[in-house]
Parts: sequence; C-alpha cells; structure tokens
Amino acid sequence: MSELCVIGSGYVGLVTGACFADLGNNVTLVDIDEGKIDMLQNGQMPIYEPGLAELVQRNTSAGRMHFTTAYAQGLSGAEFVFVCVGTPSGVDGEADLQYVRSAARSIAETMEHPLIVINKSTVPVGTGDWTKEIIENNQAQPIDFAVVSCPEFLREGSAIPDFMQPDRTVLGSTDRAAAETVAELYAPLDAPVVITDLRTAEMIKYASNAFLATRISFINEISIICERLGADVEEVARGMGFDKRIGPHFLQAGVGFGGSCFPKDVQALTNMAQTHGMHPQLLKAVMEINAFQRRQITQKAREMLGGNVNGKTLAILGLAFKQNTDDIRESPSITVARSLLNQGADVKVYDPVAMANARAELPDLQPCDNPYSAAEDAEAMLVLTPWNEFKQLDMKRIRHLMKRPIIIDGRNMYSPDEMRLLGFEYRGVGRGYNGQGMCAAGAAESV
Ligand code: UDX
Repeated sequence: MSELCVIGSGYVGLVTGACFADLGNNVTLVDIDEGKIDMLQNGQMPIYEPGLAELVQRNTSAGRMHFTTAYAQGLSGAEFVFVCVGTPSGVDGEADLQYVRSAARSIAETMEHPLIVINKSTVPVGTGDWTKEIIENNQAQPIDFAVVSCPEFLREGSAIPDFMQPDRTVLGSTDRAAAETVAELYAPLDAPVVITDLRTAEMIKYASNAFLATRISFINEISIICERLGADVEEVARGMGFDKRIGPHFLQAGVGFGGSCFPKDVQALTNMAQTHGMHPQLLKAVMEINAFQRRQITQKAREMLGGNVNGKTLAILGLAFKQNTDDIRESPSITVARSLLNQGADVKVYDPVAMANARAELPDLQPCDNPYSAAEDAEAMLVLTPWNEFKQLDMKRIRHLMKRPIIIDGRNMYSPDEMRLLGFEYRGVGRGYNGQGMCAAGAAESV
C-alpha cells in the first residue's frame, strides 16, 4: 500500500485516484473547486463515466479515498503526487499551462518531505523540466523531489477498464530510480512499462494521439473518395484491417473526431512544431479533413432538402462527441447542430446523457425524451453519435413519424439497403456504391 495524492478531480484525476485506491492504496484527491469536492464528499460524481460512481463509493466507504481542497492535507504523508489538472487550448492552439503552473507552485510551497511528482496532464514537450524549475524556485527550503511524466491514454467511456488493462505504461524522468519506483505502483496491472527520459515520454503522448487522429482523417478522406467513385468505405476498412500492419481499429469513417484530446493535442503538436520553425503539413491536413467531415453532413442535409434547411425541422440523434459519455467538448454533433440553427432550421435533439450539456451550449435546441419524439414531423434525421441504443430502433415507426423519411447516417450505423427497403432516402459516409454515390453509374459504364 502506498500513500498517493491526486491533484485535479476531472476525468483523469478521478479515474486515476479511484483505480489506485481500488488496487489497495490510500488516495487523497485535491481540487481547488470547492463545489466538486463537496459533491464528491456527498457521494455525487461531477462527471459521467461508466462504473466510476460505484468505484469511488466502494473505496470511499473502505476509507481508501479522501477529498479535500487543502494541499496540506493532500500532501501530508504522500509519497507520490499525481498532477491531473486540465491543459486547455490557448488562443493560438498552444496548451494553456496555468493550472499545471499553479499546481507545481502549491506543491512546492506545501511539501514537507521528499516526493515524486508524476505528471499525467498532457503537456508540451519540455514541461517536465519546467515543472522541476518551478518547484525548485518556490520551495521554502530545499527538499528532495523527482518529476516523472506518466502520460494518460485512457478513453472516456471506457476509462476504468483502460486504466486496469492498459496496453502500456510510459514513464519518463531524468531520475531513473524515481521512474522505477513509480513502475512498482503500476506493477499489479501487468502491462509493459516503457521507461525513458522526460521529453520522450511527453512526446509519446502527442505522437500517439496524433497518429490515431491521422488514421481517422485518413479513412475519412478515403470515405470521400469512395463516395465519389462508387465504393463502400465500410468494406474498404474491413478489407484493409485484416492486414496485420494496418489492423482493424480506428478505421471507422464518420463525422470526424472530437473530444477533449484529439483536436487539442493535434493542434498543440502543430503549434509546437511551428514554434520551432517547422511546417507540419500532415497534422494540418488531419485537422482540415476533420473540419470538412462536419461540413459535409450539413451539406448533405441541404442537398437532400432541396438546397436549404431554413424553416425546416430536423432531428439529431446523439450530441456527445462519442458514445458512453456526456462530454460534448469539440463534439461534431454540436458543430452540425449550431450550423443548422444558424441556417434557420428547427433542431429537435435526443441524446441519452448529453442533453443538459448540449442545451447549456445551444439553448435553441429542442429537447426530446426519446428518438421517436425527435423523429416526429422531422424532414430529416441525422444520426451523429454511435450510441448502442440507436442501432436497433424501430425504423418502421420512425419512418411513419417523420414528415419526410430522410436519414443522414454520420456514423454508418445502418445498412443502406435495409434503409432503402424501409422506404428511407438514406445517405451514410463514404458509401458510394451501395449508397448510390455520385459517380457510381459512370464507373459502371466505363468497365
Ligand atoms: C482519446 C485517446 O483514444 C486516448 O488514448 C487519450 O488518452 C485521449 O484521447 P477519447 O477522446 O476518450 O480518447 O476518445 P476515443 O475513443 O479515442 O475517440 C476519439 C474520437 O474519435 C471520437 O469522436 C470518436 O467518435 C472518433 N473516432 C474514433 C472515429 O471517428 N473513428 C474511429 O475509428 C475511432
């Protein structure tokens, strides 16, 4: 059992704290936001993440999880301090490090015994060295400490299994002994541990996220070509995925990636490269394609509705940036909804958990209790988040409820043939042949 302090009670901090507590450690979570700490002390979760409430409740009851706004309480007795504060995008897309800076200062001012400070927030390469300097410069008296970078790879919606069964743990430090001590904390997870230097560990996180985002933009670009040339991107991805060098994951074409990580991290990496005089063309293309995918959905709605959406009622199923989360940060669905509202459409929406967040962002959305009431009298239905519950809707009922049976499937959830048999005008993403792409007939003639 080790004594841990976790700074920040967002997704990363809460999941890290709860999972380490569940492995038998004693964890104190520190957050400067009194509201969040109050909620946690009263057994409420500030975020939605499957299984998290139960995990926090179990470990709090067992006396292994504590919550406080006081650094002194968090650091007293702690051997390890995990920094899990937010790093939002600044005005030019650079990572805004104000929270990391203030956490480092508070640690320096409060620490009374040697510590290992582990940074889990995604921070620009070089931040670990800078954190060391901040701590050194703000200590009242010199006390030994080490800084270790341990980038977080968990996904929202599956954060707990991702923590418990990671593909790898990356630990970077200029103090190898400190990195090895942190590796012992992760030993029960039985996953490969990569021990490296600070800057390399920080870069592994950016390179991993940028690579995954690139795969998505790649398959999305292929989807656009498929649509024009009369091929089906779903089959293309399946056919590619059997190649072991490619693999089947992260080849789902759709409305583009969103969330708190990919857009921000690709932008921050681009910014870092530019600051150092480079021109990261591939990273820029990844972002451009991602923006284009969102625009394409609105474009399809306009085309299918005779040129404009003004005064028309459209339904959107799914507002979260992906399934199993209430997070709408950088959600493609929100971009599409905003654009439709700006073009004068009435937008009815349904999402199983992200409704409150979406309405706070776009108050003009018309909330519905379920997919069927969203479909009622709509002239088109846009499916933009791949929630499981949308997979087996009663489509006959939907068709009868809609004023005009148009489906724009931004996640390729449905079979184009089945949708047409049911009497829908259907368009997915990159489903040229089955989806009767613009050039399908031309391609057939030239054979
Ligand atoms: C991501 C990384 O996966 C994780 O390792 C990192 O720590 C944080 O960023 P997350 O943002 O939770 O995690 O979501 P993820 O499941 O990776 O999906 C990101 C976005 O890509 C979503 O909008 C999703 O819908 C989209 N996506 C994903 C696709 O469009 N196609 C795919 O094939 C996969």
